[in-house]
Amino acid sequence: MQTLLNVPQGRFEIQRLPYRKNDQLKAWDAADEYLLAYLSEQGILSEASRLVILNDKFGALATALSAFFPVAISDSWLSQQATKINFGLNNLSQGSVQLFGSLKWPSQLFDVVLIKIPKTLALLEDQLIRLNAVITPSTTIIAAGMVKAMSANVWKLLEKHLGQTKPSLAKKKARLIFVDLDAQREHFKNPYPVYYALENTAYRICNHANVFSRESLDIGTRFLLEHLPKNTQAKDIVDLGCGNGVVGLMLAESHDSAQIKFVDESYMAVCSAKENFTQAFGNRSAEFCVTDGLTTFKPESIDLIVCNPPFHQQNTVGNQIASSMFKQSYRVLRKAGSLWVIGNRHLSYHIDLKRLFGNCQEIASNKKFVIWQVKK
Ligand SMILES: C[S@@+](CC[C@H](N)C(=O)[O-])C[C@H]1O[C@@H](n2cnc3c(N)ncnc32)[C@H](O)[C@@H]1O
Repeated sequence: MQTLLNVPQGRFEIQRLPYRKNDQLKAWDAADEYLLAYLSEQGILSEASRLVILNDKFGALATALSAFFPVAISDSWLSQQATKINFGLNNLSQGSVQLFGSLKWPSQLFDVVLIKIPKTLALLEDQLIRLNAVITPSTTIIAAGMVKAMSANVWKLLEKHLGQTKPSLAKKKARLIFVDLDAQREHFKNPYPVYYALENTAYRICNHANVFSRESLDIGTRFLLEHLPKNTQAKDIVDLGCGNGVVGLMLAESHDSAQIKFVDESYMAVCSAKENFTQAFGNRSAEFCVTDGLTTFKPESIDLIVCNPPFHQQNTVGNQIASSMFKQSYRVLRKAGSLWVIGNRHLSYHIDLKRLFGNCQEIASNKKFVIWQVKK
């Protein structure tokens, strides 16, 4: 894997997270390179510039621009962690970047805003609305992304919330978008979080902008809810990759005295899960963890894990995250504890599960999904 980023700002070692041996994917893309080259050519940044970077995937931009003490805002805990690791790899002081989650923005004003176009349009919309509170009429705003990620809706959102846009030429399938801030622009109310009524319950489910299936219950999740384990003796239960937390919420209903731990690497997901649980159960004890899977959990500390695994990390599709969640589950489950997993039929999770746990029972299946249970 290529890990050396060679740009006008210098040569930097940049790695992806989670770290994988023989990973063929780079931790940056042509849009990062294009943006860094443009900033340098045009001398956009000076010592006095107050710089904010949105959605820097693994910290390549923050690392290359560390001399300008950037603020970096992201919804991804893994992205933030990667930024810290990459600062370390390049002997840069951790103090030269300030990392913010997607729901707690800094209150200062910025002179330069760099936006990597995120995969979810709703997240972009939420960010553009929040951005209005931290820019001045003279703020320079540049968006960057791969052409394939720049749908017409991306341009529409930028124009609706900020002002006219001008595209750069495309280079290596990447493009920059220059924004001409409109002083007369309308300031819209943030439509997020959005809510839906959870079928067959009295719950109104809160979903922040970047949450999986935020408009309605996902069909896979619905199938999982229909077949969840009920009234087991489990005391410590994890909703792994919780999204808005509906799975943990229903497990809490059927397990009165259990403690549910909601885990996701998205700040917006965990915040939504927390709001949903608190609305439903008031001050019943629960844990809400923004982190990478079960990495921070103690071995043999959990009785039951239920997981609808992610099938992509940002734009990269694959089973790797699911695979590492299964390994982590084996480590943290108590003896006789169980892991329940739902997956698209074609993902064949049972092969991995059986190899790890030595057993695998099909609980239910339909044309699209299968639910598996493995026991430690
Ligand atoms: C398919 S969604 C399932 C969401 C929810 N459990 C449901 O069924 O509606 C997978 C979730 O895993 C989360 N995720 C992705 N990578 C993760 C990681 N390394 N650690 C924890 N959560 C992760 C995603 O943010 C997403 O919310």
